[in-house]
Amino acid sequence: MLILALLLMSVTVALAEPMSDIRLAPGDSRQGYERADYVTDSLSIPARQGISANLLANAQSSHLGLPTLSSYEQEPPDAAVIEIGRKLFFDRRLSGNKTMSCAMCHIPEQGFTSNELKRPIGFEGRGLKRNAPTLLNVVFNRRLFWDARESTLAQQVWSPLLAVNEMNNPSVGSVVDQLRKDTQYDKMFEQAFGESANMLNIGQALAQYQQSLLAADSRFDRWHFGGNRTSLNQLEQKGFEVFTGKGSCSSCHHISDQHALFTDHQLHNTGVGVEDSMRQTPDTIEVQLAPGVLVEVDQKLVSVVGEVKENDLGRYEITLNPKDRWKYRTPGLRNVALTAPYMHNGEFLSLDEVIQFYNKGGVSNKMLSPLIRPLDLTIEEQTALRAFLGSLTGSNVKDLVSDAFAAPVGDVSQ
Ligand code: HEC
Ligand code: HEC
Repeated sequence: MLILALLLMSVTVALAEPMSDIRLAPGDSRQGYERADYVTDSLSIPARQGISANLLANAQSSHLGLPTLSSYEQEPPDAAVIEIGRKLFFDRRLSGNKTMSCAMCHIPEQGFTSNELKRPIGFEGRGLKRNAPTLLNVVFNRRLFWDARESTLAQQVWSPLLAVNEMNNPSVGSVVDQLRKDTQYDKMFEQAFGESANMLNIGQALAQYQQSLLAADSRFDRWHFGGNRTSLNQLEQKGFEVFTGKGSCSSCHHISDQHALFTDHQLHNTGVGVEDSMRQTPDTIEVQLAPGVLVEVDQKLVSVVGEVKENDLGRYEITLNPKDRWKYRTPGLRNVALTAPYMHNGEFLSLDEVIQFYNKGGVSNKMLSPLIRPLDLTIEEQTALRAFLGSLTGSNVKDLVSDAFAAPVGDVSQ
């Protein structure tokens, strides 16, 4: 009898808390991936459980550590518009051959980026030249993309929608027509905007969904802005000292009096791009074909079947000013523990690698930012800095991911 009662209790608890399932990492943990008897632990999309969040409230409420949205706002938040944007974001029919959605590169449980790829793969396996940035708190980026070439979220969406290596739609009109013909979307657009889908309101809808992805109130925020002295441990507090002092990280990753976006919204040459451009390709590379099966493949063979990565000159590609070569935008560091790999090209797989890079003074080159220099941090200071970066994860990220799991996934069959 007692056993039955206990069993019933555990079932009730399990049903009441589907949230505990949400893991902020790739679906497949790859524990033991090198073994031939490896079994994946990733769930199929329909098997994933999520709870819808009130995204309008998330966009409108204040979050400890973030500036108010109104000082940055691009679109006045509206529940019906957010709902369209959320549906579009997960809709694979929004690509040329109906296979690729925004969420496949900006993967919610992977910090709205792609943890497993330095540079994501788009339409029909075509490679992209840069790392996918997180979309958490993206509304606060005054300029978009690593080279700051775009200014508003509503305009930005047309880049991935039309790029041949991303979603590869043949034209703006083809996307608009498709949404007008879909009775469900058509109804939603009419109700929210009083008109059918068009180039502008598709952008506004996707922008509003992304604008609602505010995630702060991290342990750091509670300590620094909320006055909770115990919310960071000693090591993390020491890391903050290094970040703002000896490491001078905050000279570019700004922290203001009332809030912190960890960016100066400027572009700098840290040397990552220079090194990438100058690097010699090795003769062979190691490829894992299946769990436990590793082979050395001749690079020449890989380049016959694969794509050669495009050269990347950073901001120079936009301004054509030689001084802008290899300059990239300072990324904000909120939720950075969730958004590996790092830098515009995904060069570093871990935060430890990033810290080692800064500690040795970046990569020297003629146009290296004067703010980048060898730091001479002790091992303890580096460990502290790493711990501090781990305290920047927003307290509501799991709610936003759970909401994403509850979102409809538009597919050909629907
Ligand atoms: C094939 C992968 C892929 C797909 C699909 C994709 N993105 Fe991206 N996204 C990227 C990459 C890579 C970048 C960075 C490109 C750069 O900086 O040049 C990026 C950049 C962005 C940015 C700029 C963020 C910032 O901080 O500057 C936004 C916003 C964005 N994407 C939203 C979207 C939306 C909305 C969609 C769907 C309409 C989408 N993306 C589809 C890979 C993708
Ligand atoms: C000169 C300005 C500057 C300074 C100083 C600076 N950074 Fe950066 N940081 C950048 C820029 C620019 C990038 C992007 C570089 C790239 O993609 O090539 C970046 C990238 C990063 C990233 C990767 C984030 C991501 O999403 O990919 C981390 C983490 C980071 N910096 C941490 C630090 C730390 C820790 C320090 C201090 C030791 C520091 N930064 C000092 C400008 C700076």
